[in-house]
Amino acid sequence: MAKEAPSSRRGRTPRPAAGGRKPRRAPSLPAPGGDPLPAPLRAGMTPIHDALLGWFKRVGRDLPWRRGVDPYRTWISEVMLQQTQVDRVVDFFHRFMERFPTVERLAAAPESDVLRAWEGLGYYRRARQLHAAAKRIVADHGGHLPDTAAGLRELPGIGRYTAGAIASIAFGCPEPIVEANSRRVLARLVAHAAPLDGTAGDGPIWEIATALLPPRSAGQWNQALMDLGATVCTPRSPLCSRCPLAPHCLALASRSTASIPVSTARREVVERDETAIVVRRGAKVLVVRRGAGEWWEGLWDFPRLPAKEILVPLGCGRRRVVGRCSYTVTHHRVEVSVAVCEASRQGARRDGVAWIDWEALGTLAMTAPGRRIAALAERGEGESGRGGDRSSRRRRG
Ligand code: ADE
Repeated sequence: MAKEAPSSRRGRTPRPAAGGRKPRRAPSLPAPGGDPLPAPLRAGMTPIHDALLGWFKRVGRDLPWRRGVDPYRTWISEVMLQQTQVDRVVDFFHRFMERFPTVERLAAAPESDVLRAWEGLGYYRRARQLHAAAKRIVADHGGHLPDTAAGLRELPGIGRYTAGAIASIAFGCPEPIVEANSRRVLARLVAHAAPLDGTAGDGPIWEIATALLPPRSAGQWNQALMDLGATVCTPRSPLCSRCPLAPHCLALASRSTASIPVSTARREVVERDETAIVVRRGAKVLVVRRGAGEWWEGLWDFPRLPAKEILVPLGCGRRRVVGRCSYTVTHHRVEVSVAVCEASRQGARRDGVAWIDWEALGTLAMTAPGRRIAALAERGEGESGRGGDRSSRRRRG
């Protein structure tokens, strides 16, 4: 099997190999409308399929949603996996399946229960769309997921990738997929030397994925591509010496694994400061629901300054800062200063604003920063008010 070039030789410009042998150049991009597969790959389709499918049979990951074929489980796992890593999804998947073992149970649940079960996974829009789709599946499809990619794409929250994944894995349809891991594998295999987030976007990679699909076993093939990308064909220092596709990989042959896929500039991080106010009134605490279009829409949180229309009618006393925390959502990095105060009045009832027992906060569907703010406030109540949680774990909105 071909060996990975030493890292010092894996720069952008191919250098002569030891012994004076010149590396092959990365092939140029296919002409628009032409065969998306370079000739050597087109000629080697069967060995490529056999190599990757054999590897997957031997070392494919044992993941809970892969035990048996159940379209409902495939769907839930794929939605969870849309923006979350496999390792993090496993526990959530088990808990979600216990709570909502069938599409009927999911459809019948109140949205707040679904959001609560999703807490920690982030990107709550996924949970809302999953819930809406479950209702449609029960109402319009007799409780069965549509068995084609086109039918699946009619449902909320199911785009091209998720439809292809469910159709191929659960229904054996010959549908391709492209997500972060398989995109990298495919780009390297064909030595695709153009950025994938430019004007052409993922279009060329979808064409390559379609052209490479084996006539049978599309589901196994798609999962194998994802596993290979996650465990062997990694972004940095890929383990080419262990790769079943190494003999066919045009990026490896042209010593371009370090520069493919070609990346474009990252979006600049925007810094933001907020002050969260934890308003207490005896055993109660004031919470506000995040509105339409906000991050964490529909989840509960603490008000942020200025929020005058909420806070002024409550006759709040002096504020005491108890700490700080920070989180990152998309390309925003937010520093939150956390203050507590006592309210003297309950104020009028307002939509999306509620007094809740402090002890019951754990049962609310709450934003991730909201949980950390509550923990800081709880700690700060008994302290001098100086504490802080400066951890900056990445958060998802
Ligand atoms: N990422 C997205 N879908 C996946 C799957 N079915 N298996 C492994 N990783 C994935």
